[in-house]
Amino acid sequence: MTILDGKKVSNDIKNEIKAEVDAMKANGEKVPHLAAVIVGDDGASLTYVNSKVKSCERVGFESTMIRLPHTTSELELLKKIKELNNNDDIDGFIIQLPLPPQIDTQKVLMAVDPSKDVDGFHPENFGRMALDMSTFIPATPFGILELLERYNVDTKGKHTVVIGRSHIVGRPMSILMSRKGWPGNSTVTLTHSSTKNIAQITTQADIIISALGVPDFVKAEMVRDDAVIIDVGITRVPDENAKRGYVLKGDVDFENVSKKASFITPVPGGVGPMTIAMLLKNTLLAREQRRE
Ligand code: GUN
Repeated sequence: MTILDGKKVSNDIKNEIKAEVDAMKANGEKVPHLAAVIVGDDGASLTYVNSKVKSCERVGFESTMIRLPHTTSELELLKKIKELNNNDDIDGFIIQLPLPPQIDTQKVLMAVDPSKDVDGFHPENFGRMALDMSTFIPATPFGILELLERYNVDTKGKHTVVIGRSHIVGRPMSILMSRKGWPGNSTVTLTHSSTKNIAQITTQADIIISALGVPDFVKAEMVRDDAVIIDVGITRVPDENAKRGYVLKGDVDFENVSKKASFITPVPGGVGPMTIAMLLKNTLLAREQRRE
């Protein structure tokens, strides 16, 4: 069994990005600038956005974090997006999800200039992804592809079962794994809350990608020997003994499933750090495209 070490790979990617930024600086060029908008004060979202900003520093990017109160109206957020679209210094920006209920998420995502949409959530970019055109691939699916590639995991002709149909992970992942090319070329089954007898499907999977957010959902008896297991779940479970008062749990019962798997991602330290590395990669790409 091989652990797909997202922490290590994301570090390698950050070093590669830093080298490119150093070269930009040496040439007197503008460095990439990422902005992140967060509405409200959800603890997990704040942690993610802080990590994204910190990672920008690590690779030499400029970053701007914009914090708006949870009472922000849709109109106010749309105004902020317009400002960011028009700000020439910003190469790419993200709106951290989820948004408070008074705001229509889809409307907000559609307001982002597709050339600055480094999350790849705008319908134009999502459509381009589905059509195999060059675009910003959403960071979490992009990170999973990168992990599979760097560990040389064979995906051609394999049966990939994706658990969860979210717009951020499950849906794009199912499209990407069925694409012609590598990683991809697999036969994909997309399962969700209305799927009947999910264990019967997962036991036929060569690759399982779980993005459900239910701790320990994937149990050893749901997995065949030598399966590749990608765990996207990262749920805060209260724990009095933990320093922060909670522990992070993946969707997969790691202790038992890892005994059967050929490759498996840990939580934390698997997919999570890859998401941030790929967001940086998309931001670098956004800068390069604006330069051209
Ligand atoms: N919330 C959970 N994952 C993500 C992500 O990748 N991007 C944004 N903007 N919000 C998220």
